[in-house]
Amino acid sequence: MLKVFDLQGIRRRSVVSVRKVLTIFRRFVGERLKLREGSGSIGNDDVLDALLNISLEDGKIEMDKDEIEHLLLNIFVAGTDTSTYTLEWAMAELMHNPEIMSKVQNELEQVVGKGISVEETDIAKLPYMQAVIKETFRVHPPVPLLLPRKAETDVEIGDYIIPKDAQVLVNAWVIGRDPSKWENPNVFVPERFFNSEIDFKGQHFELIPFGSGRRICPGLPLAIRMLPLMLGSLVNCFDWRLEDGLNVDDLNKEDEYGITLEKSQPVRIVPIKLSKQ
Ligand code: HEM
Repeated sequence: MLKVFDLQGIRRRSVVSVRKVLTIFRRFVGERLKLREGSGSIGNDDVLDALLNISLEDGKIEMDKDEIEHLLLNIFVAGTDTSTYTLEWAMAELMHNPEIMSKVQNELEQVVGKGISVEETDIAKLPYMQAVIKETFRVHPPVPLLLPRKAETDVEIGDYIIPKDAQVLVNAWVIGRDPSKWENPNVFVPERFFNSEIDFKGQHFELIPFGSGRRICPGLPLAIRMLPLMLGSLVNCFDWRLEDGLNVDDLNKEDEYGITLEKSQPVRIVPIKLSKQ
């Protein structure tokens, strides 16, 4: 009932932010169209070019500039919070668990060389860091209830009837901490993924941070490349310490619930330049 009054100011604030982001996308689209007019070439042959090609195809698929801008906004919103929260939680867990941090650093030092940014070709050679990322997804899935579903017909699942049109929320957060599936579920142990087939690509229902099925996150291939690059480079190019006066136990580990799950208090840590080897 109170929704219309927007008491927390969420709608008011988001309208301002959405406008700002749309202005940026509008500029991108305008510049690209100008470039294509000028050179006659299709520019970078990237996502924006693909969308513009569709929109310019003799009206076969209706997609105007406005829709392109909103689609880009959609992808942008879906891809930023999720990736940054995972990175922030991974760093928080590493600061909490110094022995895990040094295992990641040792692996990076051996495979990549200390102080060097991680490249895409290194990722497959960094199994410990990949296990850290999986464990971060298990304990802190950034989209805890996935996206809401609706039952098309009455469905029986287990002993329950889900009535037609019911909204269904899948609790990936609870699944990741289910003691019947995970040993010591509340403890951060990347090693649990060694010699385990469990992956997060939607085939193993114990771990579904990206969802599963036809609506599985389309950004998964990008996210699982970007996260090791970002986490690996941060850990390998700097040492990290807590802000002055803080110790590990002061690091808050509470989640704050929303569509995405964020840390209730941001991680405040200080990078220390590595001394030259
Ligand atoms: C850590 C990274 C990410 C996580 C954990 C994540 C997770 C998810 C989840 C759980 C869903 C809903 C799937 C479902 O309900 O079955 C979703 C949808 C979506 N994600 Fe991601 N995502 C991530 C990164 C990205 C990136 C980088 C992009 C794009 C660049 C992206 C774009 C999208 C879009 C467009 C949807 C909506 C798809 C639809 O409506 O069918 N995501 N994501």
